[in-house]
Amino acid sequence: MKILRTVDEATAFMNSQEKPVGFVPTMGALHEGHLTLLKQAKQENAVAGVSIFVNPLQFNNPTDFANYPIDTSNDVAMLESVGADFLFLPHKEELLKFHEVEHYHLGEVDSVMEGSFRPGHFQGVANIVDLLFSVIKPQNAYFGEKDFQQLAVIRKLVELKNIPVNIVGCATIRESNGLALSSRNRRLDTETKEQAAEISRFICSLDERYPSQTPTEAIRADVYSLLGKFNFRADYFEICDHYNLHLQEKFDRSGFVNACIAYYAGEVRLIDNCPYPPSR
Ligand code: PAJ
Repeated sequence: MKILRTVDEATAFMNSQEKPVGFVPTMGALHEGHLTLLKQAKQENAVAGVSIFVNPLQFNNPTDFANYPIDTSNDVAMLESVGADFLFLPHKEELLKFHEVEHYHLGEVDSVMEGSFRPGHFQGVANIVDLLFSVIKPQNAYFGEKDFQQLAVIRKLVELKNIPVNIVGCATIRESNGLALSSRNRRLDTETKEQAAEISRFICSLDERYPSQTPTEAIRADVYSLLGKFNFRADYFEICDHYNLHLQEKFDRSGFVNACIAYYAGEVRLIDNCPYPPSR
């Protein structure tokens, strides 16, 4: 695996590679969710690799940025074990000097849920992904449905700027107890992880618990009372249209919708979502 530390090095390396190139942007502290994206990228491209960059532009909470886990030597070993061709690992100043911060007109995908609770977050994500795409110039880029709204933001960015890249969405990878894998899970103790898994199992079994057309408000009340049982603090629970993210007042089990949640387990902010119908 070639480790690329500067934009010049990355540009020269990418220019010399066979196409198509598959690319997985990450913030490191890698887990099986990230590796699954990379494995798919490897299957579908001549060359596949990852970037690791803890992007200061997308953290609206300085403590969250300061506490974001960093584990580069372990990340490198994991990437080598699955045969990544490259790792773009830029220094903050080096990368950001290549970019004039932009404001993108992302519309509704940037205003609901994460957009309203983390103002500026998706602008930060869009800026960095735009910059990373301009350096790596991938034909295919892989993003997890774990960050379902982020995936919608990236699709919008690509459309707005006419970036010639195919965006591939990949299903959420979970622990056997239902907890979605996340770099932030490293900050949870065993008991809290088990409680968070119960929240995930709940939002992923709504179709077994509620008849179609149940008001979202009624489901939210049950979700919040479960959060309360564990002393977790809700940011939001919403059911939204899968494509345009319009918030739904009723749970249409056979519509293309996602149940989305964000909450604090102690200091750690977790997000999760499940698609309905689940099998699609
Ligand atoms: P990060 O949280 O490191 O995630 C990198 C990619 O891995 C994202 O596309 C995310 O959706 C995916 N991912 C994380 N956990 C997953 C899981 N359990 N199952 C499937 N995919 C999963 O998302 C970011 O970094 C950043 O915002 C980034 C796009 C790199 C921009 O800075």
